[in-house]
Amino acid sequence: MDTSNPQMGWISFIVWFLYVLVCDCVPLPDKEPPMHGEVQSPQYPQPYPPNLLKQWDLSVPEGFQIQLTFMHVDIEASGGCYYDSLTVLYDEKLLGKFCGNQNSADGHHPGHQPILSPGNRLTLILQTDDSNPERHQNVGFTAQYQAIDIDECSAPEPGDGSGPVCSQICLNTLGSYLCSCYHGYELRSDQRTCMLSCSDGIFDEPKGHLFSPGYPNPLLHPMSCQYIISVESGFTVSLNFSDNFHIESVDTEEGPICLYHWLQMSIPDKKPMKFCGGTSPGVIETNSSTVMLDYHVDGQGMSNGWSLDYHTHRVKCPMPGKVPRGRVTPSLEEYFYRDQIYVRCDQGYKLMMGGQEIERYSTMCQKNSQWHLPLPECHIIDCGEPEPLLNGGVTFLSGSLNQYLSVVQYHCNEPFYSTLSGQNVSFTCDADRRWRSNSNDIVSITCLPVCGKPTDESYSFQRIIGGQDAADNSIPWQVLLNVGGRGGGMVIADKWILTAAHVVKQGESQATNKTLNIYMGLTDVNKLYKVPMRAASIHVHPEYNNPNNLNFDNDIALIKLQDRLTFNASIMPVCLPAEDATYTTGMMGQVSGFGITKSAGGEKILTNKLKYVQVPVVDDEICGESITSLQKTRRNVPYLTNNMFCAGVPDGGKDSCQGDSGGPFTLTDPNTEQFWAAGIVSWGVDCGLQGTYGVYTKVANYMDWINKIIDDNNDNNIKSNE
Ligand SMILES: *[C@@H]1O[C@H](CO)[C@@H](O)[C@H](O)[C@H]1NC(C)=O
Ligand SMILES: *[C@@H]1O[C@H](CO)[C@@H](O)[C@H](O)[C@H]1NC(C)=O
Ligand SMILES: *[C@@H]1O[C@H](CO)[C@@H](O)[C@H](O)[C@H]1NC(C)=O
Ligand SMILES: *[C@@H]1O[C@H](CO)[C@@H](O)[C@H](O)[C@H]1NC(C)=O
Ligand SMILES: *[C@@H]1O[C@H](CO)[C@@H](O)[C@H](O)[C@H]1NC(C)=O
Repeated sequence: MDTSNPQMGWISFIVWFLYVLVCDCVPLPDKEPPMHGEVQSPQYPQPYPPNLLKQWDLSVPEGFQIQLTFMHVDIEASGGCYYDSLTVLYDEKLLGKFCGNQNSADGHHPGHQPILSPGNRLTLILQTDDSNPERHQNVGFTAQYQAIDIDECSAPEPGDGSGPVCSQICLNTLGSYLCSCYHGYELRSDQRTCMLSCSDGIFDEPKGHLFSPGYPNPLLHPMSCQYIISVESGFTVSLNFSDNFHIESVDTEEGPICLYHWLQMSIPDKKPMKFCGGTSPGVIETNSSTVMLDYHVDGQGMSNGWSLDYHTHRVKCPMPGKVPRGRVTPSLEEYFYRDQIYVRCDQGYKLMMGGQEIERYSTMCQKNSQWHLPLPECHIIDCGEPEPLLNGGVTFLSGSLNQYLSVVQYHCNEPFYSTLSGQNVSFTCDADRRWRSNSNDIVSITCLPVCGKPTDESYSFQRIIGGQDAADNSIPWQVLLNVGGRGGGMVIADKWILTAAHVVKQGESQATNKTLNIYMGLTDVNKLYKVPMRAASIHVHPEYNNPNNLNFDNDIALIKLQDRLTFNASIMPVCLPAEDATYTTGMMGQVSGFGITKSAGGEKILTNKLKYVQVPVVDDEICGESITSLQKTRRNVPYLTNNMFCAGVPDGGKDSCQGDSGGPFTLTDPNTEQFWAAGIVSWGVDCGLQGTYGVYTKVANYMDWINKIIDDNNDNNIKSNE
């Protein structure tokens, strides 16, 4: 016994307890016969008396045999034990009749071989006569007996045709025996013989073998057997009946029917099917993980039965189908339970499910032979609206809805803006959903203002003092400043105006963004004086120091506008000097402003029209001499420095004058025909007098300062495209 099994221990305890209970409370009705004993003749070892007839009935417990062993036999010997004898009987059956002793020639001595009774009883009879010879006294016998277990199983088959003790398996036990049957049989109620039985049960292994009782021999008694094959869900059972199939059918007019014998197959949710006849159903795909088989035969008829192998398949899912613009992987002939598929979209397409974009997709074939998710869709990707371009635009060249491979083209608003290359740039919507430039090096595009290229030209060559009214849009960078008095300036970037320092700073008083009014875009002051633009900051050159109007060195200032300008025909920047800018003597420049001019009558008046005049650059030495000679005759004539240059004609009559200060003196680049800001109107002695020249701040000397101020105050302002 497995004592480690607590349940068994408990059962042992109960058995013990019941045993104690039985012994204590209910005395056994009959004393069990002894397991052994001794028997001897009367008066042994004294001689037995004559005329004796004594019988001993020995018995041992049921299920045992008696083994009798003589220790000593000394009975008067006679032929055939005629006078005295010890007879040993099993019921009526004579087991031996003994007399004599070990040495006697007559008589029949049992020897030392024990006597075995066929059963648990034994009878001994001692019979003596009266003719005991005086000379020899016989002492009789003494014997011991003991219970011996009968091996009922090896008992020979009785001749009465009742068959062996057990029809199949016999198990000898102490004092008894048990019969048992082979697999497929069961013990009848006689506890001795076996009959075929159903090997009922549940078959849950993935494959197995089943057969009807006794197959392929007919069954001779009625029987109903049930077999259940039930495997893991997600698998289906397939039955394969062997060819040797025979179940009695009854022929009727409508054909054979399964009336008394049948095999019924039941599948959940399906109508049961009955099989009989002599033809094997062959292979049956049940499409179910559970199948019940009921085999029924009655006591009549001869059905040899059936046998089958079953095995299981994973359930099959429907073919997933195709995803337009996508790929389903892996691509198989069939898909079964637990198979997984993935869907990837072609380049330029994205996975969509239920109106939502999803990053990845997979689905699995489930137990119920369905995919756990429906297939996704592949939708073309789009790059979204292309970013708008400041001072430019975007046009669609091909494709639609900003979808994959759509091409758009950016352009700048010509002629006021252009790209760095001057070319329009195309972008294509790529698979990463980005607008990607067709030329790999371009990441983004900016529209740079075009400088120094007015849409309209001034044709005549006249004077400010001696100048000419400027045509609309011919000097679109011209700025009119008003800080109590008039001043000029020029647009150099979409937030920057260049002017002379003395325009915004008189002595110690500097204009503020409240006091400084800025106008541009028109040539008529009356039309200009509407809403002024405002400055965000004013930057006077740090080395400008002119308390008495005698030192115009570094007469340069920058004004940052609060609002960014959008350039058009009437407002455009002038170019800044190139690095290698040269001021060639005699080169014609253009100076412009709303300053003092001369009336037809010769008196000086402040003009309301933008005027311009063409004057040549004057040699520094000649100009220096002119200043020096003036200083001899006049007081308070400022000095000429390297940061200045002169322009004008020796005859006079053409010049800039008060009110023009801060305005542009432009030269034209002979290659590009662009106007560039060579000078800022700074000072002069009188205006347009013979032998005097206008003096201008030499802008080329200040490029580092200008760039630094603009960079330091950069809020993504765009410098002009030179
Ligand atoms: C059915 O069983 C027979 C005999 O064992 C075998 O030859 C046959 O291949 C089986 N059929 C199927 C479909 O398993
Ligand atoms: C199982 O499915 C197959 C294919 O759909 C079908 O032919 C067969 O009849 C089904 N089996 C049963 C028992 O319904
Ligand atoms: C750039 O695009 C504009 C507007 O689409 C078009 O008018 C212009 O001709 C284009 N320029 C070039 C160089 O293709
Ligand atoms: C005006 O100018 C000052 C100094 O130049 C500057 O700090 C301030 O922000 C400006 N005000 C406005 C409203 O732009
Ligand atoms: C240029 O722009 C200014 C400011 O937006 C506007 O007042 C002016 O009318 C424009 N000129 C032309 C020629 O479009």
